[in-house]
Amino acid sequence: MAQEDVFKKLVSHCKEYGFVFPSSDIYDGLGAVYDYGQMGVELKNNIKKYWWDSMVLLHDNIVGLDSAIFMHPDIWKASGHVDAFNDPLIDNKDSKKRYRADVLIEDQIAKYDEKINKEVEKARKRFGEAFDEQQFRTTNTRLLEHQAKRDALHERYAKAMNDNDLAELRQIIVDEGIVCPISGTKNWTEVRQFNLMFSTEMGSTADGAMKIYLRPETAQGIFVNFLNVQKTGRMKIPFGIAQIGKAFRNEIVARQFIFRMREFEQMEMQFFVRPGEELEWFRTWKEYRMKWHKALGFGDDHYRYHDHEKLAHYANAATDIEFLMPFGFKEVEGIHSRTDFDLSRHEQFSGKNIKYFDPELNESYTPYVIETSIGVDRMFLSIMSAAYKEETLDNGESRVVLQLPPALAPVKLAILPLVKKDGLPEKAREIDNMMRLHFYCQYDEKDSIGKRYRRQDAIGTPYCITIDHQTLQDDTVTIRHRDTMQQERVAIADLEKIIADNVSITSLLKKLM
Ligand code: GAP
Repeated sequence: MAQEDVFKKLVSHCKEYGFVFPSSDIYDGLGAVYDYGQMGVELKNNIKKYWWDSMVLLHDNIVGLDSAIFMHPDIWKASGHVDAFNDPLIDNKDSKKRYRADVLIEDQIAKYDEKINKEVEKARKRFGEAFDEQQFRTTNTRLLEHQAKRDALHERYAKAMNDNDLAELRQIIVDEGIVCPISGTKNWTEVRQFNLMFSTEMGSTADGAMKIYLRPETAQGIFVNFLNVQKTGRMKIPFGIAQIGKAFRNEIVARQFIFRMREFEQMEMQFFVRPGEELEWFRTWKEYRMKWHKALGFGDDHYRYHDHEKLAHYANAATDIEFLMPFGFKEVEGIHSRTDFDLSRHEQFSGKNIKYFDPELNESYTPYVIETSIGVDRMFLSIMSAAYKEETLDNGESRVVLQLPPALAPVKLAILPLVKKDGLPEKAREIDNMMRLHFYCQYDEKDSIGKRYRRQDAIGTPYCITIDHQTLQDDTVTIRHRDTMQQERVAIADLEKIIADNVSITSLLKKLM
């Protein structure tokens, strides 16, 4: 099945089984804003717990924080967001639709890539086993023409972005003959910068209301609390502050479901270190964060680093952890060595001394910072896309199964009486009452047992137990494993231990020790 179709199926599966709904659904939705349903919120909470515990529980030098979304507007001047958190936008005068100029050009580059790949695939079919891709790519004239155009465009585009040359971006769009997908015309406005921060007003206008911003990242809440936490927690460098919270960006090109949203959630950790030690710590965090991802067991080939060649002016190293989504490798997490930029800027803008006195060195300095920043929603999407499977069974039937890591699955255990009579529901309820003290359980007595298994497979429940007539005699049940569909007979008394070992977040955390 084409990856595009897999993605469409995943999006509708998310809605059908209560994972993700479009926001304001009965009002036809709100662009790039989504709600998490009864299953989605459980999965999301489990992801957050895995991240939080891996940071705060496993590291005695990392503590948590929950800072407010509203912050003093000067914070965003100090951080550079007021001046530079921009996207280059262009409007089509006929359709009145607005686009990101960089995205229009990147799509055009992708079209050349598509043409190149098509040539390769056509040749592969024609030459069969004898096909030498390397030779074809370096000698075929048509392919080389596409490649030359693609490379020239890429170079011109990279330079325009680097130079912040908006007129050149527009000229590229015109020269490439890029048309508006709605009107089909090339009637473009100038390109101009558009700030991505949402703003609102605090206080009544009579008082002279203050323009404030919805935070576009949680990180600044950590920086401005650096001294509060360091002093009250008597923290010694190196130490970290972790925070999970909402962030808001007025994304113009909002697509690919929950990949790029206007309201989303971040899990960020700022790790404060001695100047000069930051690159060693950068390497340490880069490795640790990859280990965290790989511990989920989706396969190492699903991940790769993308080291940044072009660094932001305040960073001296940066990498992304990318995940193989149905639409290619995409950034899920960023790890940045941010030098002392943020703390120095806040010192300058607030007029307060934000230095740290290092008792071992007997000197004061502005700490350097390593940041790890991951989007909860992107992590959610990566997990769902790797877990979603359509299988054909030995008996010819098919099933949709979410092979979620058991520790992240919303429901851990389904409790299913074989029939709705003979005292089986009562016995099942008894077991349900015992088990729900430990895990999220679902009791289900409706429809055939096969249909009930399918419903649980579709939401990723790792274990189903069936209560039958034998249960009433010997206090045993059958337990069915989601992925293998194997069943075994176990004592009710052993159930909690069998399940708990595999479904707890601890089972994941152990892999990080
Ligand atoms: N404090 C650094 C920072 O915010 P970023 O690369 O802009 O860096 C970090 O964002 C992570 O937040 C990304 O890797 C991504 O997972 C997530 N993220 C950013 N923008 C997003 C959006 N519009 N929708 C969903 N997730 C987003």
